[in-house]
Amino acid sequence: MREGAVWPAPPDDGKHNPPGALAADAAATHRQFRMRVATEGNERPAPRPPSRVAAFWGNPIGKKALMSVTGIVLALYVLAHMLGNLQIFGGPGPINRYAALLHASPPLLWTARVILLAALLVHVVAGVQLWLDKRAARPVEYRELRPVVSSTASRTMIVSGLLILLFVVYHVLDLTIGVANPSYVELDPYHNVIASLGRAAAAIAYVVAMVALGFHLWHGLWSMSQSLGVASARLTPGVKRVAVFFATIIALGFISIPVAVLVGVL
Ligand code: HEM
Repeated sequence: MREGAVWPAPPDDGKHNPPGALAADAAATHRQFRMRVATEGNERPAPRPPSRVAAFWGNPIGKKALMSVTGIVLALYVLAHMLGNLQIFGGPGPINRYAALLHASPPLLWTARVILLAALLVHVVAGVQLWLDKRAARPVEYRELRPVVSSTASRTMIVSGLLILLFVVYHVLDLTIGVANPSYVELDPYHNVIASLGRAAAAIAYVVAMVALGFHLWHGLWSMSQSLGVASARLTPGVKRVAVFFATIIALGFISIPVAVLVGVL
């Protein structure tokens, strides 16, 4: 019989369906048969339970934990990069020697790049998905926005995050690959930075991106302490102060470079 076809009911004429227990048995058998025919051919192997990684990724708490861990990796990179860049105030010698050192071992350099890129990808994809889930859970905007514990930084996390992502793409094209730089010279970051930030528009774009980075780090560090369960009535004020301090130092450290180029100190 064709898949999904309905088995015709036996005629109700008293000969084929005798009254009493026999009739009930026949009806039950008939129902079972119809169900078997209807599902025949649609049988699939029982779904396998999701892997641990998939289960972790599918859970908002797991995703937040991944965002925290990748956020720490990225924040440490940003701190090291900012300290390395400040060597530019010592003239071309120190920063160019530092760049030569970083490029001295290609396997080491590429390992660091792959780790950084993986951390960035996980951080961005998890962040966008969590934001989309949050939006889907509240499809209608509040008529009047009355934030209780959220700050300007928390509401602009997605905006600052995407701005930083755009900045990083432009920045790598500018100072690592060199195609967006007006006069790129291989392994001469001092020259490349001055050449790039000597244009007012580029310097201002850098400053705007660094302000976004400051806000992102400020709220990111604070919400990370909550995701990792560090927050408590006793620790929260201290965590908030550390987050503001770290974010301000990073933003001001970076901003000092385009400002110094703009005002002619560099
Ligand atoms: C004024 C601010 C900044 C300056 C002057 C600066 C300078 C540089 C320079 C000179 C390079 C090339 C290094 C080399 O190839 O040897 C570089 C690469 C890079 N910078 Fe920045 N940077 C700044 C801000 C940032 C920020 C805020 C981020 C991240 C949010 C960032 C992320 C990167 C990345 C991912 C690379 C590529 C590293 C690689 O080549 O593997 N930079 N930066």
